[in-house]
Amino acid sequence: MRTLIKNGRIATAGDLFYGDIAIDDGIIKEIGSRLGGCFDNIIDAKDKIILPGGVDVHTHFNLHTGRAVAGDDFFTGTAAAACGGTTTIVDHMGFGPANCSMEHQLRVYHEYAKDKAVVDYSFHGVIQHVNEEILDQLAVMIADEGISSFKLYMTYDYRIVDADIIRVMKRLKALGGMLTVHAENHEIIEHLREELLSHGNKEPLYHALSRPDYCEGDAVNRLISLAAAAGGVLLYIVHLTTEKALRHIENASKSGAKVYAETCPQYLLLDEDLYRQEADEALKYVLSPPLRTKRNLEELWRGIREGSIMTVATDHCPFSISLDKQRGKEDFSQCPNGLPGVEERIPLMFSEGVMKGRISINKLVEVCCTNPAKLFGMYPKKGALMPGSDGDVTIIDPECEVTLTCQGLHSNVDYTAYEGFKLKGYPVMTISRGEVIVKDNEFIGQRGRGQFIKRKIMGEIL
Ligand code: URP
Ligand code: ZN
Ligand code: ZN
Repeated sequence: MRTLIKNGRIATAGDLFYGDIAIDDGIIKEIGSRLGGCFDNIIDAKDKIILPGGVDVHTHFNLHTGRAVAGDDFFTGTAAAACGGTTTIVDHMGFGPANCSMEHQLRVYHEYAKDKAVVDYSFHGVIQHVNEEILDQLAVMIADEGISSFKLYMTYDYRIVDADIIRVMKRLKALGGMLTVHAENHEIIEHLREELLSHGNKEPLYHALSRPDYCEGDAVNRLISLAAAAGGVLLYIVHLTTEKALRHIENASKSGAKVYAETCPQYLLLDEDLYRQEADEALKYVLSPPLRTKRNLEELWRGIREGSIMTVATDHCPFSISLDKQRGKEDFSQCPNGLPGVEERIPLMFSEGVMKGRISINKLVEVCCTNPAKLFGMYPKKGALMPGSDGDVTIIDPECEVTLTCQGLHSNVDYTAYEGFKLKGYPVMTISRGEVIVKDNEFIGQRGRGQFIKRKIMGEIL
């Protein structure tokens, strides 16, 4: 199958130019002007902007929390991703049974994704306890399974204590793997939560007040120190939300630490005032870390512009507002945490970011496509438009105006956190390995067509 995308404006992390892209057998063969030849499919992208397919390295499909099950499986979740211009996802595996091996969860997740995923995918390993066997499994996961990044949590039930974090860091440093961390100070959260609840402060607003910005600032600062004690490791902070934590990362980076930050559209565009309304509305935004003040939002945009925030992912974790999230109505601590967003990411970053002048189109490509592919061992197969890369392409019509509504989106959940956002510019076509899988907001690909990506360690590709 040979496809030609012609007459578009091609945006990469470093360039913006008019040109054509020829894709042969799923792989980009040539990029240039007025490309000729025989093609099975010719797509006219006049007046459109062409990006590498989006790479979202933080989703939660098939997530079982014990209390609730997130709405999207690997079919509905990846179809929603595709409709929003994302062609690669890396899902955070959820916790398995106590004391299970990492391979156990990997097998479970391969089953979840097989015959369902419609875009290419990988998983981050999950570290829910630490012992010598788990440390030994890290090497197997990297070398044999193509899983080169691992997640641990500093809060929640399976939080990892500092001494064990150092052990993991040391092992990953030796292997070249990436450690990703949910960074919040658990003891402070527990203390504040108990205090608030005991005084009858149970509305959603108190979810945010039980996880103040200094929880994240402290945890990130501590991680940087733990990484120093371990002799340095590739450290990636997921869903960064605060100026406090960002400043710690910026200072550490200046001293040569390899610490990378991810943020998400909700932390760039939604602020904590959303908790100051009726519970039915406010519950939509119960997620961890919580939404922050406007000042933090501005600082995160600054971090993106200046390069101290390397990626924008989604932390897509959809629980229904009509059912699951209602559990938090009488007591915020009972509300399953998270919100949907895998489909909204590129449209929001284009309209709210590029069209409103907060970032350039090249910066959008850098943080939504190229950097995530590089950091997580998938570049230049993913995240790039160059000969040899997969033919993953998102075509945006900058004139297309869309008002975001839940009905217009494809995730299996009953709300969007961005209801009523008026967007200028929207993805009108998504191409995965040369195949058009979304056209005019309709998924037209085959269920199960997505392929598992065996990822490398960052050191092998950069
Ligand atoms: O509230 C959130 N973010 N839920 C998803 C799990 C996590 O912490 O990333
Ligand atoms: Zn998290
Ligand atoms: Zn998450």
